[in-house]
Amino acid sequence: MRLDRFLANLPCYNRQQVRLLLVQRRVRVDGIVAADPLTPVREFSRVEVDEQLLQAGRPARYLMLNKPAGYVSATLDPQHRTVLELLPAEMREDLHIAGRLDFNTTGLLILTNDGQWSRRLTQPTTKLPKHYLVETEDDIGPHYAATFQQGLYFAFENLTTLPAQLDILGPRRARLAIVEGRYHQVKRMFGHFDNKVVGLHRESMGAIRLDPGLAPGAYRALTDEEVAGV
Ligand code: URA
Repeated sequence: MRLDRFLANLPCYNRQQVRLLLVQRRVRVDGIVAADPLTPVREFSRVEVDEQLLQAGRPARYLMLNKPAGYVSATLDPQHRTVLELLPAEMREDLHIAGRLDFNTTGLLILTNDGQWSRRLTQPTTKLPKHYLVETEDDIGPHYAATFQQGLYFAFENLTTLPAQLDILGPRRARLAIVEGRYHQVKRMFGHFDNKVVGLHRESMGAIRLDPGLAPGAYRALTDEEVAGV
């Protein structure tokens, strides 16, 4: 929400008083004087007028987890262990998953309480590539790359996938970069050639790479640089 609306919504100020507060440079957002009425105020922002705290702002949290196989990318599941269970109980509250992985897919999983940030990471329009290491049951043909580059029609969603980059690493091993995260997307892309994916591991999302120091099941906070790169 913009700062002037945030302030005017409070019972203590009318719109004229808000304009005056801003002009008099009495409002601070995250410790910095904010005179622009359009300054964004989020649930994470600390807002002060003079020495009065109007909103403390809850801390924004960003984690990377090395997802092991055999965990559901969900916050709750009646049957299986969830990735949230890999975190201490006190850390789980209000986190959501930015780009889910299938039950047996391993690798980079990002958890956050910042919905605006996670949308930037996952929305196809931002075109952030997600890199996957893929192992298949049958040999990968040299013609796959051109088909993936062109896009594949997914009838269920009635869409054509955005161009994807395939690098063949071995007869049954490849690295695939996709900018979307459609349901079972990688498996369905290889399924187009009747080639079953038998191993799938996410290495990176945009500039965020899975930390090689993280054992399966381990997690760490993202650095400020990793958060800012999205
Ligand atoms: N594509 C898939 O098919 N599965 C995943 O877990 C991720 C991408």
